[in-house]
Amino acid sequence: TMSVSQMLFYSKKNVDPETMLLPYLRRKLRLTGTKYGCGGGGCGACTVMISRYNPITKRIRHHPANACLIPICSLYGAAVTTVEGIGSTHTRIHPVQERIAKCHGTQCGFCTPGMVMSIYTLLRNHPEPTLDQLTDALGGNLCRCTGYRPIIDACKTFCKTSGCCQSKENGICCLDQGINGLPEFEEGSEVKEEFLPLDPTQELIFPPELMIMAEKQPQRTRMFGSERMAWFSPVTLKELLELKFKYPQAPVVMGNTSVGPEVKFKGVFHPVVISPDRIEELSVVIHASNGLTLGAGLSLAQVKDILADVVQKLPEEKTQMYRALLKHLRTLAGSQIRNMASLGGHIISRHPDSDLNPLLAVGNCTLNLLSKEGKRQIPLDEQFLSKCPNADLKPQEILISVNIPYSRKWEFVSAFRQAQRQENALPIVNSGMRVFFGEEDGIIRELSISYGGIGPTTICAKDSCQKVIGRHWNEEMLDTACRLVLNEVSLPGSAPGGKVEFKRTLIISFLFKFYLEVSQILKKTNSVHYPSLADKYASALEDLHSRHHCSTLKYQKIGPKQHPEDPVGHPIMHLSGVKHATGEAIYCDDMPPVDQELFLTFVTSSRAHAKILSIDLSEALSMPGVVDIMTAEHLSDVNSFCFFTETETFLATDKVFCVGHLVCAVLADSEVQAKRAAKRVKIVYQDLEPLILTIEVMSSMLMPGYYLFFLNTSLTFMYFPVTGEIHMGGQEHFYMETQSMLVVPKGEDQEIDVYVSTQFPKYIQDIVASTLKLPANKVMCHVRRVGGAFGGKAFKTGTIAAVTAFAANKHGRAVRCVLERGEDMLITGGRHPYLGKYKAGFMNDGRILALDMEHYSNAGTSLEESLFVIEMGLLKMDNAYKFPNLRCQGWACRTNLPSNTAFRGFGFPQAGLITESCIVEVAAKCGLSPEKVRMINMYKEIDQTPYKQEINAKNLAQCWRECMAMSSYSERKVVVEKFNMENYWKKKGLSMVPLKFPVGLGSRAAGQAAALVHIYLDGSVLVTHGGIEMGQGVHTKMIQVASRELRMPMSNVHLRGTSTETVPNANVSGGSVVADLNGLAVKNACQTLLKRLEPIISKNPKGTWKDWAQTAFNESISLSAVGYFRGYESDMNWEKGEGHPFEYFVYGAACSEVEIDCLTGDHKNIRTDIVMDVGCSINPALDIGQIEGAFIQGMGLYTIEELNYSPQGVLHTRGPDQYKIPAICDMPTQLHISLLPPSQNSNTLYSSKGLGESGVFLGCSVFFAIHDAVSAARRERGLRGPLRLNSPLTPEKIRMACEDKFTKMIPRDEPGSYVPWNVPI
Ligand SMILES: Cc1cc2nc3c(=O)[nH]c(=O)nc-3n(C[C@H](O)[C@H](O)[C@H](O)COP(=O)(O)OP(=O)(O)OC[C@H]3O[C@@H](n4cnc5c(N)ncnc54)[C@H](O)[C@@H]3O)c2cc1C
Ligand code: FES
Ligand code: FES
Repeated sequence: TMSVSQMLFYSKKNVDPETMLLPYLRRKLRLTGTKYGCGGGGCGACTVMISRYNPITKRIRHHPANACLIPICSLYGAAVTTVEGIGSTHTRIHPVQERIAKCHGTQCGFCTPGMVMSIYTLLRNHPEPTLDQLTDALGGNLCRCTGYRPIIDACKTFCKTSGCCQSKENGICCLDQGINGLPEFEEGSEVKEEFLPLDPTQELIFPPELMIMAEKQPQRTRMFGSERMAWFSPVTLKELLELKFKYPQAPVVMGNTSVGPEVKFKGVFHPVVISPDRIEELSVVIHASNGLTLGAGLSLAQVKDILADVVQKLPEEKTQMYRALLKHLRTLAGSQIRNMASLGGHIISRHPDSDLNPLLAVGNCTLNLLSKEGKRQIPLDEQFLSKCPNADLKPQEILISVNIPYSRKWEFVSAFRQAQRQENALPIVNSGMRVFFGEEDGIIRELSISYGGIGPTTICAKDSCQKVIGRHWNEEMLDTACRLVLNEVSLPGSAPGGKVEFKRTLIISFLFKFYLEVSQILKKTNSVHYPSLADKYASALEDLHSRHHCSTLKYQKIGPKQHPEDPVGHPIMHLSGVKHATGEAIYCDDMPPVDQELFLTFVTSSRAHAKILSIDLSEALSMPGVVDIMTAEHLSDVNSFCFFTETETFLATDKVFCVGHLVCAVLADSEVQAKRAAKRVKIVYQDLEPLILTIEVMSSMLMPGYYLFFLNTSLTFMYFPVTGEIHMGGQEHFYMETQSMLVVPKGEDQEIDVYVSTQFPKYIQDIVASTLKLPANKVMCHVRRVGGAFGGKAFKTGTIAAVTAFAANKHGRAVRCVLERGEDMLITGGRHPYLGKYKAGFMNDGRILALDMEHYSNAGTSLEESLFVIEMGLLKMDNAYKFPNLRCQGWACRTNLPSNTAFRGFGFPQAGLITESCIVEVAAKCGLSPEKVRMINMYKEIDQTPYKQEINAKNLAQCWRECMAMSSYSERKVVVEKFNMENYWKKKGLSMVPLKFPVGLGSRAAGQAAALVHIYLDGSVLVTHGGIEMGQGVHTKMIQVASRELRMPMSNVHLRGTSTETVPNANVSGGSVVADLNGLAVKNACQTLLKRLEPIISKNPKGTWKDWAQTAFNESISLSAVGYFRGYESDMNWEKGEGHPFEYFVYGAACSEVEIDCLTGDHKNIRTDIVMDVGCSINPALDIGQIEGAFIQGMGLYTIEELNYSPQGVLHTRGPDQYKIPAICDMPTQLHISLLPPSQNSNTLYSSKGLGESGVFLGCSVFFAIHDAVSAARRERGLRGPLRLNSPLTPEKIRMACEDKFTKMIPRDEPGSYVPWNVPI
């Protein structure tokens, strides 16, 4: 049953226990505000609020939850509130929705409903939250566009102390300090926004009928069933035990965060499920004399609150274990998962990377079990964790509660973990450690150490611990213990998860940390007795991560001459901002189903290079709901499309060339049926040689037509004292909205409508027309908005659309195709990995005289855009520097991986990093700071690029200077050096990089754009243009343009979306120029209209647009105009290496400071300052959004985003659990962004500059800051020689580069003696 605002769940007889809340909301109830982003609890796009009433405590509990993992059967008696329920534009928007929109916290808007619901739920529980609670609440929500800063700023307005960083580190907060003595800094937007007040009394009440039901209803087991599955929800302990006795194999589903993903991703099927509901015995909290007993049914969030409370109340010596548990509970998953997952489920599922089990295992905890046969207690120890039959639960037993004893005097417990990302990421290695001395003498009486992430279960170093009992707590003991533990907790070279040497190092690094921690406490209690710990080493113990953020933004000032109603230059909110926040914005998959619609899913290759011997479709075809399965044979002569020079085949014919290669397409009545059938398609392969994955091996197997680029050939006589190379990994687009489309045959004249999430509707139109053998005028492609694209929604989207359209046409029925996250990551490819080789000749003062470069990119199986990427990389590789002699060559290498494609920055983030790495190495050779060498080689005011295009680099120098000043670079450099002198295990690094990003597409035709503007007789205006709204706010800017040109308020102008029907032959939206080019076309159309109407307006200057439009109509003057822009002039002669490929340059600079933990490889971005030259900004809020969003995406690229492939070419990283994009915890603690004052620009739109891509590269300031910190560590450890670090600079690489006695102690495997889990590509 459903009311508009809230959903209440009563008993429903015919619910399918396999249905999760998310598809139920989206498909059945047509509430599409809640989004699908991953389906596995990892992204937060599907966040809803769950409320339950407890008739015993009489309290209502509201908590956030991931709808994708909630079986609807588990929601009996609960109220579910979705984003639609809390506010809408039809009624009243909620303050959360309003503020996130007004503070520019939405770009593509796909993550926004989830963000809104996380904050809404927080506010229901804490109307005036602290910043800590805020970051906690958002920890489980990912956003790929904004970089989080504006979202945090929006939420801060609810905090009591908003506007301040609340940092009490060093006793001063950002406001006290006055940001670096730059008083002209404005905070937030220049116009202080007015917000609706938050009034908790206005919120929806908990439905009284559910309360009455909970109070009154007789308590008995409910059962739901389908043909495949039975679901039992017992409400008393007795019934639960009965059921478990009857169905011993049935899982006891609590939060479903362990069972759910297994069912979904691993194909596990449970015919019977037992899901206890509100059984009081499972949520007991008993404070006994020897410790706490916690009910197995308590959620991890509840456990966290209980422990936080206990820790406050009891003396520290009793709560050692609770403190350690709390530490891990803070970072374990996100708030949604912590609120769903139960303590019992966590313990019983015994994940190898469980965060709590290694701790509980060292704490003498016991488990209270119950079955029909009676009570039993078993220890939570290694045997239990490794599922030894005689130490495990019996199948019919239930875990009731867990006893966690208090710690004793002279007992210490610590928790350690290192993950790829600080929060909401499974640990790479974690550990629980406990020592008990019994008395002051410092002799070890008991010692327990256990590790997670090392083997298939939690591993205890039992023997090692046993062997050091009786010894003193000193360095000798530590040394022995390290050797023993390494021996006992051994890890084969081929261990799943890879990073083997890193894991081995962490095992003993954690032990060392524990040693230091305990030593320090012992020293405090008795400084005479215990060896003193030098201050220099104490830093090993401090936590890196601060959760307080502060930011300042500096916009450009509006010129005094500008008309007050002219919106250009103002920070106007994204046109769809509010609709993003209310869930009303419609994305492709939110479109209602068309009658008789079918769903299409792909079967993809599991082999990287193989011959297809046979495909057996018979079983799949016989499955219920299956309509058709198409292979290459069905598509026969339309199974390919020629793109540039290479023909792309859609479905594999006789061979496959990568894992994820599309082989067949299954068409069924529903998504579930299509997916089930796809699993039954049987393909027999025969592997082929060679299997090529990496660039290195490939150096000899280059793409046909590889590129050679000579800029200056007088290099032969040069001497190159620096020669090196750097490898840079790829990147997954991870747009929050996966590839989606709906193809609808119109049933008349063979017309077909394609609704698709793409950046390139014209291409989709062409490829569909070609596949259906239709003229383009029969195929119409429509895009309202795209939930993030970043380059990934053009060419692969076309291939998928071709097959989907073929299916739709063949069956004359609408077909929907939406990729799951895992499929999307597997199939679509991403940014090109690069190998860069460099040679540099230079003077002692750092002047680089000659540079010889080679770029190799990993193109994947097909050429696609790879050569353009190489080309752009070559043209942009000089970044901000003048190299008097330069040769640069590039090759795209064909490999057995999915074809890599366009990605924000298009080759520049790779090429730029290679150049900067070379500079850093030259600086090291010269004994200078990299910044010095950067400065000395920077372009002069009037200069020439290697391809002889004139540039005026005045603004480059200005950005550099301002960034130096704003970041107080010199002062902070000194502070950083001092810090590094004083700290051995923590190091800081500071780095500043300049940016020159050339903008232009290399050809005039690629830059043409068109628009269509209609004026209706009521005076309202409709604008269409060829650009795609993918979060960058192009539609908002276009309305600003129309408003300025037609001199009418923005509210009078509407824009619906993009369609090949209104603007034909539009170019792809990308390359930073969407607003530039289309804006000029819109401007042109408006000017045409205005010119036509001028005589009418001047005759009646006081008239309204309605009057003028009517007059024009009466006088037969057309009120519709096409606008056109031919594209910037552009040419490039590759033979001569000369030309004018770009229209203008975006300049900027970024300075970042990081701190690293040399023992774990952890890093924290402490502060980033960015200065950008944007010409005259059309909308500074949107522009800053692009800068910071791109910066964070770049930071992810260069630090934590790591794709892993098996030696057989299988992608391991297929979702947010394995692939880590930056989350809220990765935001710099301080972020300051400043735009240069307006500067005039030749012939761009109102002198503006396109900013979509350039900021990505600035993320490398973080890379080089880490480099700087690692260098400091190495210098101190006496390691000389060039430091070459590859990208991404993950915790693994940081740790392993900070070589020390621990990295020396670990065993290393001979290369070739084992098969590694992953290979570098
Ligand atoms: C996105 C995501 C991120 C995560 N991140 C982390 C992380 O960072 N660190 C970490 O440690 N973990 C993490 N996890 C794992 C999470 O902690 C576990 O999935 C969770 O604790 C399991 O609890 P549950 O109640 O959902 O279990 P369920 O899935 O409901 O059940 C799990 C198992 O426990 C059994 N069971 C449950 N209760 C009982 C009982 N009372 N008696 C007998 N058997 C019982 C069930 O039979 C079932 O086999 C993450 C999970 C997800 C989905
Ligand atoms: S879709 Fe549910 S968390 Fe990603
Ligand atoms: S706005 Fe957050 S994902 Fe696009």
